[in-house]
Amino acid sequence: MNEVIEENERLRRERDLLRRRLAEVEENFVRTVSDSQQEILARNEALAVANSQLQELDRMKDAFLSMVTHELRTPLTVISGIAEMLETGIYGSLTPSQEDNIRQITAQAARLRQLVNDLLDLSKMEAGMMKLRLEFHDPRALIDTVIGQLITFAAQAGVILVSTVPEGLPEVSCDGQRIDQVFVNLVTNAVKFTPNGGQVTFSAESAGDFVVFCVTDTGKGIPEDALPRIFDKFYQVQSSTESGARGTGLGLAIVRHIVELHGGQVSVESLVGKGSRFCFTLPTRDHFRHLH
Ligand SMILES: Nc1ncnc2c1ncn2[C@@H]1O[C@H](COP(=O)(O)OP(=O)(O)OP(=O)(O)O)[C@@H](O)[C@H]1O
Ligand SMILES: [Mg+2]
Repeated sequence: MNEVIEENERLRRERDLLRRRLAEVEENFVRTVSDSQQEILARNEALAVANSQLQELDRMKDAFLSMVTHELRTPLTVISGIAEMLETGIYGSLTPSQEDNIRQITAQAARLRQLVNDLLDLSKMEAGMMKLRLEFHDPRALIDTVIGQLITFAAQAGVILVSTVPEGLPEVSCDGQRIDQVFVNLVTNAVKFTPNGGQVTFSAESAGDFVVFCVTDTGKGIPEDALPRIFDKFYQVQSSTESGARGTGLGLAIVRHIVELHGGQVSVESLVGKGSRFCFTLPTRDHFRHLH
């Protein structure tokens, strides 16, 4: 009988000991969890502060860029205006070397103005401030307008512009001026990177509720590893800059922003030595009917 009582007593002590240990483990566990929670909270707070500082810096950078580009516009307009007047000879005739210098001033001022306008457009789009004037346009008419604008520029580079756009495609919803800007950027690139004797072809076809527009050249092409970054701002393929082609790397970033603002998508295919094809889509009336 005593043995049973003793055994009982021993088991009770063991149980108490185990309970105490369990309580200790629990307490430790709770403390560790709460310590880590506090650490996570503290780190989260630090992250939030860093994040808001970064956002503020980013906003300041954008505001600064937009302010500087605005401020550059006025003096540029004045410089171009005066240079153009001098060029006409209304202030007296010019020697050949003066004429040459003035021509350079107007050309460089025009480049600078283009750059300033590109930077302003990009900062407006990145801030979500660009408004579109949407209307329905005939795809063929859009392309004919661009060809009219750029045929001489292309011919000077020995490149012909060809349209294979059929009649009767559905009208697309777009801001005509902005889509013109998209085409001008694509065609300027196509001509810039296509050697004398090449061709740039415009095509368009219906695809579901969209029309797909493509600009295809027979130029130098783009290496495969560069394709994923080609629409990033300031990105240029190194061989293009080495070969002396001018530019800033803003054109395709603007193209992508404008197309996406319209609800379309951009894409590119290219083979080095064969040529490149840039395509983008724009919604037709059916697209909006199916939305409702
Ligand atoms: N049709 C093309 N053929 C070959 N390379 C191209 C073509 N279009 C674009 N690229 C490559 O993509 C780069 C980026 O083009 P993007 O139009 O953005 O800039 P850019 O023409 O260099 O400068 P910007 O358009 O600002 O004057 C070009 O520098 C060039 O390396
Ligand atoms: Mg360009």
